[in-house]
Amino acid sequence: MRTSTSTRFKKPALETADLLVSLSERVVGQAPALEAIVPYVHLYQAGLAPENRPVGVFLLLGPTGTGKTRTVEALAEAVHGSERNLLRIDCGEFQMEHEVAKLIGAPPGYLGHRETTPMLTQQKLNASTSERSNLSIVLFDEIEKAAPSLNRLLLGVLDKAILRLGDNTTVNFERSIIFLTSNLGARGMSRQMKPEFGFEALTGVHSGSLHHKLQSVAMNAVKKQFSPEFINRIDVISTYYPLERTTLEKILRHQIDDFQRHIVQRLGQRAFAVELSRKAKQFLLEKGVSDEYGARELKRTVHRFLIQPVASMVARGQVEPMGIVYADYRSGDNGLVFAASTAREPLAA
Ligand SMILES: Nc1ncnc2c1ncn2[C@@H]1O[C@H](COP(=O)(O)OP(=O)(O)OP(=O)(O)O)[C@@H](O)[C@H]1O
Ligand SMILES: [Mg+2]
Repeated sequence: MRTSTSTRFKKPALETADLLVSLSERVVGQAPALEAIVPYVHLYQAGLAPENRPVGVFLLLGPTGTGKTRTVEALAEAVHGSERNLLRIDCGEFQMEHEVAKLIGAPPGYLGHRETTPMLTQQKLNASTSERSNLSIVLFDEIEKAAPSLNRLLLGVLDKAILRLGDNTTVNFERSIIFLTSNLGARGMSRQMKPEFGFEALTGVHSGSLHHKLQSVAMNAVKKQFSPEFINRIDVISTYYPLERTTLEKILRHQIDDFQRHIVQRLGQRAFAVELSRKAKQFLLEKGVSDEYGARELKRTVHRFLIQPVASMVARGQVEPMGIVYADYRSGDNGLVFAASTAREPLAA
């Protein structure tokens, strides 16, 4: 169902005014992908998105832990104020043909018709939006795992922005931006990277020719998996590259800053500062980053080796309000060493 243009979109929220900046703060080192997404959101916010098709369809490719899913979460956060404002379909749950009924509901008369509430209804799509914007952000994660019938359903969604459910009602995706993510070609990409790169070697700027090679490996894998008409309906195919050392350092810095902000917000007058030595940061990076998982483990590592020990110190009364907690690393240890000092300048809130 379409509504008049005046109610189709809301005035862009201040927070989305510089969408690219806000996305770049959350997703580091993947500028081309972010730059490709922003114009589609602007097109929608301007009320100029085409009719009878989704606002934009993106296929995000590349190795694990490089920021594909994070990008979609970051967009939800920027557009709606929370990364939870997205409709996420984990295609790994729909590998078998019969499982696709969970998504669209079984037709009337079929076994299980009454029990199956479809996962993809218009209400759910609308519920993923917010006061700020009525653009729904839909993520089909790990698309290569989906059963062929899901791909066929998707074809209709990408083409006409319509999904027909088991009970013959329809879901309209004209106000949706759709992301498909996939690791297709990631193994071939990592073969291309070696022996040129390993985590240790990820220090320099990736050469343009390497980017080009990785992109073509990913594209070849996509062409093998999906039909040409499926590929033709995708607006932008973005390849995410393995993260360079400087990017990883920046991601770590963001995570430490987030922790510091959290301390200040939660503890107020009792807040304190956390400072890490260069070696402590290096330890966290080496523990949290790998060729195999990208930056996926970094958050968990920061939690385990930094946040939890600091929280224990606070709980034991070892940290004074407005004091400083120093974290360092000594070679051979399997963790950081901490020292607390007393008050210095009050922390800014
Ligand atoms: N480019 C990046 N910028 C900031 N954080 C990142 C980036 N890449 C990875 N991370 C961190 O690693 C976590 C995992 O990344 P993400 O879920 O985006 O991986 P992915 O590319 O979707 O991998 P997969 O293919 O396995 O799903 C994120 O939640 C974030 O903490
Ligand atoms: Mg992912």
